[in-house]
Amino acid sequence: MNRNNLTKDIDNVFNFNPGADLSCIMVIFGGTGDLTHRKLMPALYNLQCEKKLPYHFAVVSVGRRDKNNKEYRYEVHDSIRSFARFKINEQTWGQLRQRIYYEKFNFAEDDGYTRLDTFLKKLDDQYQTGGNRIYYLAVAPEYFDVIVEKLHRHGMARNTGSWQRVVIEKPFGRDLPSARILNEKITAVFTESNTYRIDHYLGKEMLQNIMVIRFANMLFEPVWNNQFIDNIQILSCEKVGAGSRAGYYEQAGALRDMMQNHMLQLLTLTTIEPPASLDTESIRDEKVKVLRSLEQFSPEQVFKNVVRGQYGPGVIDDEEVSGYRQEDRVSPTSDTETFIALKVHIDNFRWAGVPFYIRTGKRMPVKSTEIIIQFKPLPNILFAREYGGLDPNLLVIKIQPKEGIFLQFNAKKPGTENIIVPVQMDFCQNCRPGTNSPEAYERLLYDVMRGDSTLFARWDEVEYSWKFVDHIAAAWKERKPNFPNYAAGSWGPAEAAELLAKDNREWLHAGDISA
Ligand code: BG6
Repeated sequence: MNRNNLTKDIDNVFNFNPGADLSCIMVIFGGTGDLTHRKLMPALYNLQCEKKLPYHFAVVSVGRRDKNNKEYRYEVHDSIRSFARFKINEQTWGQLRQRIYYEKFNFAEDDGYTRLDTFLKKLDDQYQTGGNRIYYLAVAPEYFDVIVEKLHRHGMARNTGSWQRVVIEKPFGRDLPSARILNEKITAVFTESNTYRIDHYLGKEMLQNIMVIRFANMLFEPVWNNQFIDNIQILSCEKVGAGSRAGYYEQAGALRDMMQNHMLQLLTLTTIEPPASLDTESIRDEKVKVLRSLEQFSPEQVFKNVVRGQYGPGVIDDEEVSGYRQEDRVSPTSDTETFIALKVHIDNFRWAGVPFYIRTGKRMPVKSTEIIIQFKPLPNILFAREYGGLDPNLLVIKIQPKEGIFLQFNAKKPGTENIIVPVQMDFCQNCRPGTNSPEAYERLLYDVMRGDSTLFARWDEVEYSWKFVDHIAAAWKERKPNFPNYAAGSWGPAEAAELLAKDNREWLHAGDISA
């Protein structure tokens, strides 16, 4: 009985709604772009393999390049072969292929929308999609409001008797004022409940698991507070550089690209209070409370608690790589940060006094995302006194590439002498043979189809995240950084290590701790 209840609860976390009408046409603006080819189409194919795509379904990709359906489908086939987690099966691909269409037009042209509307209505008849639409804006941010306004003007955004949802990729603005303007434009057309602001980290398996780990285990929740926890570190590092996205990245930097969204989402899920229920709004309400309680930095605190960095040339995996300033479409004098590390507090009763150390960067030695919870030192009695201190307990929630949990505790080393050593329990869920975790986009697209916005950012989450980040951006404007200040392949600038050294701590990484 308990087991059944658990399954039911987990379904509730994600508001599983078996009765929802998933029939729809998904319109992808930016159909020839990187995101569509690397993430969206492979996700749709994976959903098809899992028999999760609705029977009444079609995809229309809109792009500015000239090509016909046949050419477009051919390109999509290639992308699926390269990026889908399931090996391509021609029969399954055939079922999806025939439902993919390509339409060429310029996003700012009214004629294009008139043609698109007529075409979508024709497809409604053919696929019995009943007028339901997902508009996925996989385009540069300057087109977000243009497209939304055109959809509105052409009567394609709100219709009775059917649903229309819009999915917005990041960046959602570049600061709070611009995000507000964008939000007003979008929500003047689509309601908040039909607006899906994507943060793909929320679609990752282990992020969804954080709440389950915390609230479904008596072992963890009672000690999840400032009485038992010494500090929490959140790390997301990548080996890749800005690469082909440098044009965008130059404007964003690590602060806007990773901190404002993914890193703060990791922080909120780790620290929220138990929600009143598992429905979408209760969870989001708790997340917002954390964001509202975040310490707001003065300029002096920014210079004390936040470190920025930019990579210079270096070596990764025995290969020489160039510095950020030498990359294509990057200014040779660029001041864009590719690394950020900070220390912040959450000013509420649960977390008062616990420092949160967050760091993210490109061109680092490993690809890894993890949350490391370091428990308080033991009282200086018994074994701790005898052995001159013992290692603290550590719990690591491993998000990627390995998904799982790692727990470090002290135990006696087998033998005739009393030697105490830290030992580790390392649970890796995606290392098990036969486990093939869904890609984040798969989960998120499926949720849009069934109208579940739990794993998407509500406007006030975005708003409070920008508020926090804007203080940092404003202070940084006042001082020119001394870039580059870390070599590609290293763990970031020396100041990042000093940030923790000042507190007698050091950055941890599960890969270094594991035996
Ligand atoms: C994206 C950022 O949102 O996340 C990229 O724009 C970054 O710069 C990427 O590389 C990281 O995602 P993941 O899933 O590979 O950790």
